[in-house]
Amino acid sequence: MEIDRRAFIAGLGGAAVVAAMDHEAKADALEHYMEEQLDEAAAQSQDQPEKFPTVAELEAQIETRGYRRGAGGLFVSTRGNVKKLEPMPPKPTLVDFFNLRFAPANHVLQSATRAMKTGMSEEVILACLLHDTVQALMRTDHGWWGGQLYEPYIPEKSSFAIRYHQTLRFFPDEQAGYEYPDQYYRTFGHDYVPPQYIQDTYKMLKNHKWYMEPRLVTVNDLYAFDPKAKVSLDPFIDIIGRHFKQPKEGLGYDNSPSAHMWRTIARPDSPL
Ligand SMILES: [Fe+2]
Ligand SMILES: [Fe+2]
Repeated sequence: MEIDRRAFIAGLGGAAVVAAMDHEAKADALEHYMEEQLDEAAAQSQDQPEKFPTVAELEAQIETRGYRRGAGGLFVSTRGNVKKLEPMPPKPTLVDFFNLRFAPANHVLQSATRAMKTGMSEEVILACLLHDTVQALMRTDHGWWGGQLYEPYIPEKSSFAIRYHQTLRFFPDEQAGYEYPDQYYRTFGHDYVPPQYIQDTYKMLKNHKWYMEPRLVTVNDLYAFDPKAKVSLDPFIDIIGRHFKQPKEGLGYDNSPSAHMWRTIARPDSPL
């Protein structure tokens, strides 16, 4: 695919901004840019709506890969070999995990930025900031994995929002301003029907007093890469300070119910 370098660099905010980005951030930006261009080109070339795959077509791809789609991003590279990771400090904080294991974390930073701009509560902003970070460890059922990972450290409303945003992504809510995403037609197939446990969870959520918490995560869940968006953890440091109970022993070493999950994210190269 041909890249319009000038448009790409301008879209990111200019040469100086690009120069300040680290390698990972650049690679991430480029990948999203190319995905968008590719989707656009595909739609234009057909002069008709994009043709989404079927569930059967996606299933037929399973044995074409050396990994499963549910594997966490730290454990599998779909573009060449994995890279050596920087060691974590002895008492790692959430910010260390963002910098050393979740980076560049564009998607969650953009979602949290949008939540902040639209005046969401701090619990919801925090949930948006953390909502997909567990995908470094595991993608399948990431709502539940993420809820469990963060539960010991954040307000109950925030972990509720993280746990259940995964379910609500499958169910539009016009009033709240959430449509079923095209991305899901690509990811799951256009004829996909969510499994029974997701449907049952949705039924439970519809009548729950905290329905809007996970719903607002889905409203702020941005899949389109906005090249003009500034991505930084800085605007969220105060919210983290107010709501994230950082253990003094460091994440992974405080014997919480999810400490082993933090250690696994910290040391994904450990063979056992
Ligand atoms: Fe998610
Ligand atoms: Fe997301």
